[in-house]
Amino acid sequence: MNFKNGIELIGLEDIPLVKKDDDIPNIIIESLKKMGLSLLDGDIIVIAQSLISKSNGRTRNLNEIKPSEEALDLFKLISPKSKKQGLPLKDPKLIQLILDESKEIIKAEHVLITETNHGFVCADAGIDKSNIEGKEVVSLLPENPDYNAEKIRRELKRETSKDIGVIISDSFGRSFRVGAVGVAIGVSGINPILDMRGKKDLFGYELQTTIIGQVDSLASAAQLVMGEANEGIPVILIRGYKFEFNENNTIKSILRKKEIDLFREPINEKLTNYMKNRRSYKFPFKDKRVDRKIIEECIEIARWAPSAHNGQYWRYIIIEKLELREKLISMMNQKLRNDLEDDGKSEDFIENKLSKSRKNFIDAPILVLLCLDIMELEKHPNNERLENEFILGVQSISSSATYLLLAFEIKNLAACWYCAPLFAKDIIKKTLHLPESYVPMAFFTVGYPLKSIHAPPRKELQEIIYDLNV
Ligand SMILES: Cc1cc2nc3c(=O)[nH]c(=O)nc-3n(C[C@H](O)[C@H](O)[C@H](O)COP(=O)(O)O)c2cc1C
Repeated sequence: MNFKNGIELIGLEDIPLVKKDDDIPNIIIESLKKMGLSLLDGDIIVIAQSLISKSNGRTRNLNEIKPSEEALDLFKLISPKSKKQGLPLKDPKLIQLILDESKEIIKAEHVLITETNHGFVCADAGIDKSNIEGKEVVSLLPENPDYNAEKIRRELKRETSKDIGVIISDSFGRSFRVGAVGVAIGVSGINPILDMRGKKDLFGYELQTTIIGQVDSLASAAQLVMGEANEGIPVILIRGYKFEFNENNTIKSILRKKEIDLFREPINEKLTNYMKNRRSYKFPFKDKRVDRKIIEECIEIARWAPSAHNGQYWRYIIIEKLELREKLISMMNQKLRNDLEDDGKSEDFIENKLSKSRKNFIDAPILVLLCLDIMELEKHPNNERLENEFILGVQSISSSATYLLLAFEIKNLAACWYCAPLFAKDIIKKTLHLPESYVPMAFFTVGYPLKSIHAPPRKELQEIIYDLNV
C-alpha cells in the first residue's frame, strides 16, 4: 500500500473451528504463512472473543444449568417486557448463567444489562449463542481477556521477534444508538485509550478533554471484516495504524469508573435523591395534560406502602372532570367562607383564601382525593382502642400518600398534599356520591412543574432525635 495515510485490515484465512486447548498463536502463524504474510513490528492482531472462549473451554450447555429462584424471578419480571418488544423470551437457564457471570444487574427491562465480573457493562453479561456449535451451547466471555491477549502476544513475539499489539474483541450494543459495534475486551501491547489532553488542535488550541478509545475503534474496524454471521473470519491483521507499543496495558483503563458514570447512579443514591428532591409544589402548573394512566401507575406504587394490620385502608379518587371539580370546590368554598366568617376574618382575607383554593384545586391538571375507608378498621367495644384504630388508619393512609408523592417525583410530576378535604368531609362525600365508610382526608394537586423550588428548611438531626443518654 502506497498511501501516506491509511490502514490495512486483512482477514486471516483458513482459521479452523477452534476446540478447547487449541493453540491460537500457532493457528495464527499457520494462517499467515499460508497467505504468504509475516508479522511486522507495529502490526495489530484482533481476535474474536468466541475463538478465545472456545479455546479456554468457556462454553456451557444450557441443559446442564439449573436456574435458581433469583433467575426464575428475573424471568417473570422481564418476560412481559420482552414480549412487548417482540423479542424471544430469555431461558431461565441463560438468566442463571448471566447472574453467575455478573457483579450487578444494572437494568432488567426487555434486555438484561449487567456489569460483568470483569467490569464490562453489556447485555446478557456478554454471553453469546452465535457462532457456537450445538443448539443449547453458549459462549461465556473469557475469564481474563487481558491475560489471554498478553499470552498470545508473547507467544507471537517468541515465534516472530516482532512487537505487535493484540486485541480481543466482541460486539456490544450501545445505550444511545442502535446497532452493535466492535469493542475491545482484552489488550496487550497497545494502550486502550489515546489521551490527547494537552495536545494542540488544527488551530493551535490545546485539547482539554479529548480521550480517544483507540482499541474500540480498531475492534470496530476489524468487525467490518470479521462479520457477525457465518463469515468465519475471527482473526484480523491490522497494518499501518500508528501506536506507541507498550507492554503495560489493561483494558480496565477504558472502563468508566462508577464515580464518573453519570448514567449509573447507585440505586440507593437515586432513591435518596428522590426523597430529598421531592417538594410540595404550590405554583401554577405547565399547561400540559397529565395522562390518567401515569396517575394510576403512581397509585400502583402507593399500594405497596405499609399499613397497620396490612389493612390498606387507602382509597384514591381521581377527579378529572372539570364541571364536577367546579361544583365540588364551589361547595367547599361556601363552607370555608362560613368557617372563616365564624372566625371573624375580614372580607379581604376570606376572598383571598377562597380564590387561592379555587386556583389550587381547579387549575391543577389532576386532582386526587385520598379517603380512609373506616369499614376496614378493626372493631373494638372499647372506645380508646377504637380511637387508636382510627389513628392507625390515618397513619397507614399517610404512609401510602408518602409513597404516592415519591412516585410522582419519579415520574417527573409535581404535586402538593392539601388538608382541605378534612374540613369538608360531608360535602365531598355527598357531591362525589362516595360510599358511607369513606372519610375524605387529603387532596393532591398534580401536574408538570413550571419552575423548580427550594426546599424549606429542615430541623437539625439533633433536634429530632431525642437522646436518652444526655
Ligand atoms: C398532612 C399534610 C397536610 C398538608 N396540607 C397542606 C395544605 O393544606 N396546604 C399547603 O399549602 N401545604 C400543605 N402541606 C404541604 C406542607 O406545607 C409541606 O409538606 C411542607 O411545607 C414541607 O415542604 P416540602 O414538602 O416541599 O418539603 C401538607 C403536608 C402534609 C404532610
